[in-house]
Amino acid sequence: MSAPFIIIAIDGGAASGKSSSSRILAERFNLLHVDTGSFYRHITSELLRRNIPHTDLAAIKAELPKLDFSTRLNGRSAQMLIALQPAGDEIRDQRVNEHVAHYAAVPEVREKLIGYQRDQVNVAKQHGFRGLVMEGRDIGSKIFPAADFRFFMFADPVERAKRRAAEGRQDAIGQRDTIDRHRLDASAQGAIAVDSTYLTLEQVVDQMASLIRAKLE
Ligand code: CDP
Ligand code: CDP
Repeated sequence: MSAPFIIIAIDGGAASGKSSSSRILAERFNLLHVDTGSFYRHITSELLRRNIPHTDLAAIKAELPKLDFSTRLNGRSAQMLIALQPAGDEIRDQRVNEHVAHYAAVPEVREKLIGYQRDQVNVAKQHGFRGLVMEGRDIGSKIFPAADFRFFMFADPVERAKRRAAEGRQDAIGQRDTIDRHRLDASAQGAIAVDSTYLTLEQVVDQMASLIRAKLE
C-alpha cells in the first residue's frame, strides 16, 4: 500500500522562520513546498503594476477575475504564475512589504486564493510528492484545518526584526503583524507552538521533524 498523502500547515508572523523550516522539511519528507505569502505578494505586485490601489475595492473586484493563475515547480516549491508569468524579485522589496497586508485584508483577494491554495494538493500528487508543506497565516485555521500537522511559529519581535535586517531587507514587520493579527490568532488555536527566539534553524527543524516522524512511523 502506498504511504498516505500528508499535509503540514505552518503559520506564523514575519521572520518567525516559516520559509526556511518549510523548505528543509520539504527536502526531508519529499513534500511540495508552498509559500502562500509569495502568492499574496505576487498579486500585490501585479495590482500595484496595474495602478489599482488597495483602497479602491470596486477596481480590485473588477480586476480579480482577469488574473489567471497557474502553477509551475521551482525545485520543490510551487511557483504561482499570473497570466503565465512568474513573480520577479520585486515581491520582496519594500514597496510590496508595505502594501501586501492591505491587499491581503481584502476578502475578495482571499476568496480568490482559497481554491488555488487547496488545489496545490493536486499539483503535489501530479508531481509524485509524498505530501505538501504549506506556510502562511491562515493555513491551519482556514485552508487546511484538518491538516495532519499544524504548527504555529513565533519569535520575539526584536529577534525577528534582527533576522530581517541580517538579510539586508527593509520590512514593515510590526505594521504587517498588526494588520495580520486576527488571522494569526485563529491559526494558533490547537496548533503545535514552536518558539524559535532562542533556537537555531536546525534546532527548530529537528523539533518539528521528530514530531512528524513520531506520528508517521
Ligand atoms: O515571509 P513573511 O512572513 O515576511 O511574509 P509572507 O509569508 O511572505 O506574507 C506576506 C503577507 O501576505 C503577510 O504579511 C500577510 O499580510 C499576507 N498573507 C496572508 O494574509 N495569508 C497568508 N496565508 C500568507 C500571507
Ligand atoms: O518565512 P518567515 O518570514 O517566517 O521566516 P524565514 O524567511 O524562514 O526566516 C527569516 C530569517 O531568519 C532567515 O534568514 C532565517 O535563516 C533566520 N532564522 C534564524 O536565524 N533562526 C531561526 N530559528 C529561524 C530563522
